[in-house]
This record gives sequence, C-alpha cells and structure tokens, in this order.
Amino acid sequence: MKMKKMLASGLVLCISIQLLCACGKAEQNTAEKVHIGVTYYDQSDTFLGELLTDFKEQLKKCERDGLETSVIIQDAGGSQKTQNDQVKELIDAGCNVLCVNLVDRSDPSEIIDLAREYDVPIIFFNREPVAEDMMQWDKLYYVGAYARQSGQMQGELAADLIKADSRVDRNKDGRIQYVVLEGEPGHQDAIIRTETAVESLRENGIVLEKKGYQIANWNRAQAQNRMEQMISQYKNDIELVLANNDDMALGALDAYKKLNYTETNLPVVFGIDGTDVGLEAVAGQRLAGTVYNDKEGQAEAMAKLAEVLVTGGDIEEIGLTNERYCYLPYFKVTIDNVEEVLENNIR
Ligand code: BGC
Repeated sequence: MKMKKMLASGLVLCISIQLLCACGKAEQNTAEKVHIGVTYYDQSDTFLGELLTDFKEQLKKCERDGLETSVIIQDAGGSQKTQNDQVKELIDAGCNVLCVNLVDRSDPSEIIDLAREYDVPIIFFNREPVAEDMMQWDKLYYVGAYARQSGQMQGELAADLIKADSRVDRNKDGRIQYVVLEGEPGHQDAIIRTETAVESLRENGIVLEKKGYQIANWNRAQAQNRMEQMISQYKNDIELVLANNDDMALGALDAYKKLNYTETNLPVVFGIDGTDVGLEAVAGQRLAGTVYNDKEGQAEAMAKLAEVLVTGGDIEEIGLTNERYCYLPYFKVTIDNVEEVLENNIR
C-alpha cells in the first residue's frame, strides 16, 4: 500500500515536472510554434493507438518542413472528469491548439468553456460532439469519418460474399442467421454502423434472420466473452457476425478458437477499421473483410488543421465541410486488395 502511494506521488511529481518544463517553454511561444495538447478517451483502444502513432509521424513531417511542433498526449482513462482536468493542464502547459477525443461525446461543455476562456482552438476527433455543442464557439473543429458509409460498405461486403459463395448459408434455408457485436452505446459509430450494415444487406437482396446482439464496447476481450455467450445460446446457427470494429471481430474469432471450432464450422466475420491486426486477419482469411477507417488521412488532417489554426495559414486548403468538419472516406478491404493496403501502410 505504502509502496503504491510512493509510486503514485512519484508519478504526480514526474508529471508536474514535465508540465513545468513545458510551461517554461510556453513562455517563449510565438504563433509560429505549434504546441499541441492531445487527450484521448482510453489508451487501450487499438484504433486510437494507431491513429496517434500516425499523428506523431505527421508532426515529424511538419518538423522536416521547417515547422516547430511539440505534442503532449494524455490518456483520460475513460473518465470525463479526468479529461476536463487534463485540458486545463494542457492549456497551462502552453499548448496553443488542442486535439480532443472526448470520453463522453455528449459532455464537452466544460472543455469548450476552458478553451474559449484561454482562446485555444479545439480539434475534436473520432468521437463527434453533437451539432449544437459544435456551435458553442467558432474555434471548434471535428475530424473523423461518416459512420453511415462504413456500415453500408460492411453490408455490401457481406452481401457480395453471400451471393458469391453458397456455403455461407450453411443450413441452406435461404436466409442468413446473423449476430452483431456492437461498440459503446452512445458512440456515433456504433448503432449507425449496425443499422446501415443490415439495411445495405437487405437492399442487396439478402434475407436475414437476426439471432442476437451484444455490446462489447469496441473491446476484443469483451467481444470474446459476449460471443462465447451467443455461441452457447445459438450453437451452430450463426452464419454471419457483423462487428462494429476489427477488435470485436477478432474477439468473435477468439471465442470460436477457444471453443475448438474447426474452420469449416465458422461463420463469416466482418470488421471495420483495418487496424494492423485486422488487416493481418483479412490477409490470413480469418476475417472475411473489413472497412478501412482512414487513420492516416485523419491524422494528416488533424496535423494540417492544427498548423493552420496556430500559424494562420489558409484553412480553405483543408477542404472543410460546413467550415468545421473534415470527414475522411472509408474503403473496403478484402483478400483481393489487402496486400496492396498493407504495403501502403508501412510506417
Ligand atoms: C473505431 C473503433 C474505436 C472507436 C473509439 C471507432 O471509430 O472504429 O475501433 O474503438 O472509434 O472511439
């Protein structure tokens, strides 16, 4: 216990020193230096981990182009209260632009008030605030992607495969029995992805029968656990698994593996994201397909926007929608193009 306390106070001290140093630097700030403060909802999220790696790469590129940048990245550990405090710390540390991946996308008011008070623009990313909140101040931006498009593409991928391969309908009843693994409730990408995927399967003439759905909060281990429950309930009846992201799709496969299912008894599984592990699984034909959530494009847009907001460059170049939003398009990944995608992905 004592040890824990000592470690905790050591950590606080480290963070304070870091912030003090950053503060010192901030005093010499000019608008030419881009000091970015990032806070994101949870460091265990695979997609965001990769997105932020790309973001740091983008900033290195800016450096090579002669722009001085610095970045402090904070993990909010799933707490909105922690994130609000982090925003204050980042502003105190001299950050002149913030990139915020909200813990609770419906609760950005405290962060917006703080940023407005210190006149620090915010680029929200990946977890989209509601439109009314985006109107609270004119220095609020959003970088992300259209949830509908990803769901639609996932449905199309599944429909194409079902039409091309009669083995998917394993019980040959002319209908596809499916289950859904859903992301966090309240996230703009969760319900919309599910609804549009199902809609687009139907529009493509597939007759569906929903067996069940489970919320697994984007998380692989949770998805494995929920999938095990569904397998024990529906046994071999499941022919298709639609997962709102790759980690949950892989969790579904983990469940089948744990229960010793052989390849011929597996349903087809689709994800969304194209994370490193997701793409590998498509290449290994364990995932039937995924929809690429363009993290490199999003990271680049965030870096460019941060630069323009601080240095006063031409915002028109970024091509914003409604002057505040930047949505990067998704694209489909199957065994046919996965190698190409992997090659472009070398970091
Ligand atoms: C991604 C998920 C991720 C979530 C986090 C979604 O857009 O597809 O993989 O967990 O964002 O907010």
